[in-house]
Amino acid sequence: MCGIMGYVGPREAAPILVDGLRRLEYRGYDSAGVAVCDGRHLVVRKAEGKLARLSEMLDVDPVPGSSGIGHTRWATHGAPSDHNAHPHTDPSGEIAVVHNGIIENFLALKEELLAAGATFTSETDSEVLAHLVAQEYDGDLLEATRRAVARAKGAYALVVTSSREPGRIVAVRMISPLVVGLGKGEVFLASDIPAILHHTRDIMVVDNGEIVDVTADGAHLQTIDGRPVQRDLLQITWDAAQAERGGYPHFMLKEIHEQPQAVTETLTGRLLDGEPETVVLDDVHFPPGFARALDRIWVTACGTALHAGLVAKEVFEGLLRVPVEVAYAHELRYRDPLIGPGSLTVAISQSGETADTLAAAYLAKERGSRLLAVTNVVGSTLSRTADDLLYTRAGPEIAVASTKAYMTMLVGEYLLALVLGRERGTLDATAAAALVAGLRTLPRVVEETLAREEDIKALAAGFNGHDHVYFIGRGLDYAVAMEGSLKMKEISYIHSEAMPAGELKHGTLALVTEGTPVVVVLTQTAVYDKTISALQEVKARRAFTVAVAYDDDTEIAKHADRVVRIPRVPDLLAPVPAIVPLQLLAYHVAAARGHDIDQPRNLAKSVTVE
Ligand code: AGP
Repeated sequence: MCGIMGYVGPREAAPILVDGLRRLEYRGYDSAGVAVCDGRHLVVRKAEGKLARLSEMLDVDPVPGSSGIGHTRWATHGAPSDHNAHPHTDPSGEIAVVHNGIIENFLALKEELLAAGATFTSETDSEVLAHLVAQEYDGDLLEATRRAVARAKGAYALVVTSSREPGRIVAVRMISPLVVGLGKGEVFLASDIPAILHHTRDIMVVDNGEIVDVTADGAHLQTIDGRPVQRDLLQITWDAAQAERGGYPHFMLKEIHEQPQAVTETLTGRLLDGEPETVVLDDVHFPPGFARALDRIWVTACGTALHAGLVAKEVFEGLLRVPVEVAYAHELRYRDPLIGPGSLTVAISQSGETADTLAAAYLAKERGSRLLAVTNVVGSTLSRTADDLLYTRAGPEIAVASTKAYMTMLVGEYLLALVLGRERGTLDATAAAALVAGLRTLPRVVEETLAREEDIKALAAGFNGHDHVYFIGRGLDYAVAMEGSLKMKEISYIHSEAMPAGELKHGTLALVTEGTPVVVVLTQTAVYDKTISALQEVKARRAFTVAVAYDDDTEIAKHADRVVRIPRVPDLLAPVPAIVPLQLLAYHVAAARGHDIDQPRNLAKSVTVE
């Protein structure tokens, strides 16, 4: 998983490439590099470490030229190092490639090339592609690339340039994402749209199995076997400033504070004035009778999106009276699940590019299930694979730790439950109208919760000296605890575990000693007393307890050491405000520790490899 860039046009390429790579760093950041053509020679500059190192290198020793390719890496084959950094060249230095993804048969290809006398300078799978293109090259970069990729197996995106044809770039998409941006007399290539949005809003999405031939005059798309493709341009309406930090110290904090707006966007146009019980989802079109006949819903996702799926299970089972299975996509794809034509598979993914989630979605489709995608990225692979589509509309999410995307996934799930519940007949108009009314309050409720940030910041100090934290809850509160715990571990690097409150006494309680922080989520009235019992169990071991509870809960202060308050909402909607203090808690604990919050160690925003 990496970020790739390309540029051809009248301007100096290197600064444009570096700027694009900076916006792609969320995809990986263990090394970076560019290859720029000055019209006669290709010059490669690359360095281990964050992009800033490459940038400094280019400041000291600039590379002139108006076409080039660039890369920011997240290591898969070969450790992060200068020599494993991209671009990779063939031995003559005339052909350079950048690559995102995995070449599955690279060892066999490498052995073949070694036997023919080739020498390699890296341990990467990518370098074989430079050799293959060189081997196939007979004066036409497009044809050479086409023949080279015919020999490679895997899921990847590849961008190739050659000093033999200055001003021409060829790119291929085999599953991993790739977009082309068309400017005036200049063309951009990138792994995603925000990387080039400030240059152009005219975007051509390259589809799976397509090759694109780029010069400053335009981009010509073909299938890999040579059939021309006509693709409508996407006109992107995002504000480029949306993808910037906007005054916050970190994207994560900015994105946490964008949640009221993000929820508003998710709801916009989907709730009808004058029809309080009706939800309209433009890209969801179940066949007549489908919802009523539904025998099971499968929810599949990874990480935070899976935690949104845990909320979906409670919401769907409660409102639709249908069994719901929530399955990690990386498990589901290798199982023999009982998914069939009577089921609906809901694949949830912020990026819409997570390799495991895509594989599970393909499996569900193969087995005849209808596939519904809940995703944030317009034009993502998942969105184009699904039968039905629910865009979460959170806007670009840059921080690796997902916040606003998670919240909008939850809102999307409520909308979906409303549509399905009405079609199934399990949700009457009065109940639907009450839920819709509750949804309308969420932007304000989240805003109010955010206004309490200083209290949470003060609380964060109590977590800093600790190596272990526990999050507990029941039902929907358990789902929130899972997400709160993930946030804590991924940015604070404190070991954190979440579990159903009743599970604690079956083992984990042995780890709770004096002062151990235990966060208890307490919004579900039906199991409130039961969760209080679990809270008492950890209190008895002298844990430091923090409860997330409603403003009007007069009981909780008698039990917990600290109480974080959220406005009262219907219990079903509580995960939306309840996650906010946990996001802020993780953020302020990590900030106090001075961590690289937006790019936590070992992680990447979008996991496009297995
Ligand atoms: C969450 O903070 C993580 N960055 C991670 O768990 C993420 O949610 C997961 O990799 C799934 O990504 P997706 O939503 O893009 O599929």
